[in-house]
Amino acid sequence: MQCPHLINEHFFNPKNVGNIAEAQAVATTGSLTCGATIRISLSVDEAQRITDAKFKSAGCSYLVAASSLLTEQVKGKTTAEAAVLGQSPTRSFIGQLGVWPMDRDHCAALACEALVAAVKQYSNSVREEWTGDEALICTCFGVSERTIENEIKTGRLLTIAEVTRACNAGAGCRSCYSLIEDILDTVNS
Ligand code: FES
Repeated sequence: MQCPHLINEHFFNPKNVGNIAEAQAVATTGSLTCGATIRISLSVDEAQRITDAKFKSAGCSYLVAASSLLTEQVKGKTTAEAAVLGQSPTRSFIGQLGVWPMDRDHCAALACEALVAAVKQYSNSVREEWTGDEALICTCFGVSERTIENEIKTGRLLTIAEVTRACNAGAGCRSCYSLIEDILDTVNS
């Protein structure tokens, strides 16, 4: 199958190939369908903005092209924005590469999966290292346990989706979902 021009460009001159030596987030994912693997590493500043993104992949030209484009796009975004991008419909970002064969959507999805996994890993590490007075639940949006409890009580919230609408918690990488669920169970029991 002939690759469209832009896809070829990202394949033969892929951007951001490699590993970031002192990355704040690293994740590797693999496909059971085709055996491809991809590792994404991110540098994140104190404002939770991605200052660098790199990838190493063992897969086809489509995976390389999608990873090249994706790592370009996340630079300058917050980790929450990157997670939203990684969880958006795959075609919304690979459409920029021009014609993209339907049977290669899984290549772009694998790159997105690695990105979201890296953001989750970052969020978990920030949460674990948090030393503030109130427990931090959603690191993507800086939402504390107390804020979530108050929102649940005052709004009589029952679901994670309702909590997200009320205070943004859970609107990024979703690594805080199980914690929000626990708070919902405790407050509503
Ligand atoms: S920690 Fe990422 S959405 Fe809450």
